[in-house]
Amino acid sequence: MVEYPGYPPEFWDSIEKVEETREKRLKETFPKMPEAEREELVHKYHPDYKEGTKRPVRVGAYKGQLAPHEVVDLLEAHALINPNEIDLDDVDYDVDILIIGGGGAAASAALWANINGVPADRILMVTKLRFGDANTKMAQGGIQAADKEYDSPIYHFLDVLRGGHYTNDPELVKILVTEAPLIIKFLEDLGVMFDKEPDGTMIEVSGGGCSRYRMHSCGDYTGLEIMRVLMDEVLNREIPVLEFSPAVELITDDRGQVAGAVVMNLETGRYHVVRAKATVIATGGFGRLHIQGFQTTNHYGATMDGVVLAYRVGAQLRDMDSVQYHPTGAAWPPQLAGQLVTEKVRALGAQLVNIEGKQFVYQLEPRDVVSSAIIRECYDRKKGIRTITGWGVWLDSPMIEIIRGEGTIEKFLPAMLRQFKRYGIDIRKEPILVFPTLHYQNGGIVINKYTQVLDAKRKPIPNLFAAGECTGGVHGKNRLMGNSLLEITVFGRRAGIFTSKHIKKVSLGKLTLNHVVRWENMLKEAKIRTKRKAPIILPDYRGDVRYR
Ligand code: FUM
Repeated sequence: MVEYPGYPPEFWDSIEKVEETREKRLKETFPKMPEAEREELVHKYHPDYKEGTKRPVRVGAYKGQLAPHEVVDLLEAHALINPNEIDLDDVDYDVDILIIGGGGAAASAALWANINGVPADRILMVTKLRFGDANTKMAQGGIQAADKEYDSPIYHFLDVLRGGHYTNDPELVKILVTEAPLIIKFLEDLGVMFDKEPDGTMIEVSGGGCSRYRMHSCGDYTGLEIMRVLMDEVLNREIPVLEFSPAVELITDDRGQVAGAVVMNLETGRYHVVRAKATVIATGGFGRLHIQGFQTTNHYGATMDGVVLAYRVGAQLRDMDSVQYHPTGAAWPPQLAGQLVTEKVRALGAQLVNIEGKQFVYQLEPRDVVSSAIIRECYDRKKGIRTITGWGVWLDSPMIEIIRGEGTIEKFLPAMLRQFKRYGIDIRKEPILVFPTLHYQNGGIVINKYTQVLDAKRKPIPNLFAAGECTGGVHGKNRLMGNSLLEITVFGRRAGIFTSKHIKKVSLGKLTLNHVVRWENMLKEAKIRTKRKAPIILPDYRGDVRYR
């Protein structure tokens, strides 16, 4: 086995400074930033505000609005399929509910549809890789829910709005926070093993931008544990899952309703027709578009496919200009560059310090604020560490053991400990070098409280639903930690419940791909000349750097 040496010798002077200042820092409380200062910092340093990184979309319901180039390129792309080559009379799967996606939102939708009376064999999940290959499994720190006596969904509501700079859809936020406690109970009853005190009390810590301790975790692999249990339940209920079968286009009928999707078998390259009375898009986000060249924490399949599909049938989008950069992506070793270093490290007490061992931001500000402060520290003040992949600042993890006692890291951050140990770094004794990394798609498809997808006039697109990271509104322009695992389980559940009711009213007409023909005409009229096709399904690491 290769032995990795840990940090290189040129980092050690700085690590010694971190050690020297630790005792003093332990005694001091770094002040939280006033609201006006936060706004100024974010506007000056957050990558979302960098000039030349966005352009307006030229076609579709989001026409005229700004989004990153990487996003606009895909929104303005050609369809992957030629409608003339798909035989829509040859229906391969005929179901009541089609769920596109293989993560937590998709699994939740499938389960709750079944719980609400839709037989398992009338539901079909299709997913482009294996079931469970999704960002849900990669979520580490936790899931929020105001379920302690000192807390209330009202405080949770206010935190979410403040974190999102008051740009969120309040109706969706209200649902998120009020349904959170029942989701924790549901997950626990299903078998999720949350961290608990010996007497059975749930251990809850704080996340950035939160006014109360309400983060429920399973070590630092919360998403993996939740996905394990959701997958087990879907499989136990024998709900069919078609793997390696990405949806490449929605199907509409001759009455303009959504009526299923064309899926591609990744092994054979053949297309299959799925007819469905309700279609749920739960395809996750766009981290693998590597916006502005950022590294990402995201799963290999996070390529914005669902947004592209919904957009072609007229879905409205929102906040597509807003990207979440998680403040603490690994910056060393290079093999881990961009990988998630969970916010829970900061929640347990680790401070962020510069090359001189000085703390420069309160570690639990909202994510966009912390990321902006790190970028300022490196790019502007030049107080970061240079690495072969960019920059980094220190996340002083050994503080956790001093504040909370020896063994805390092994108990609450076992995956982090193992991940860095493999490269010769013991995070109980040495700080972690970090830099912001692309983590989350804040915006997405506009939905209403029933998870129905809305068009430009805010009218539901018949039979089309969406849940999870592919949607926008819940988080506004910045999400707080622990609200994505919550969003997928809350809104995945709602998608399952509402589709189970909705299908009773649906009758479908003749299947068509007329919207694709219309789309291609729109591209022509808008004089959009591109060879690009979407959805891209997987990132191409050999090709254009924009789609890495
Ligand atoms: O830092 C984290 O563990 C990430 C959590 C989240 O994005 O909710």
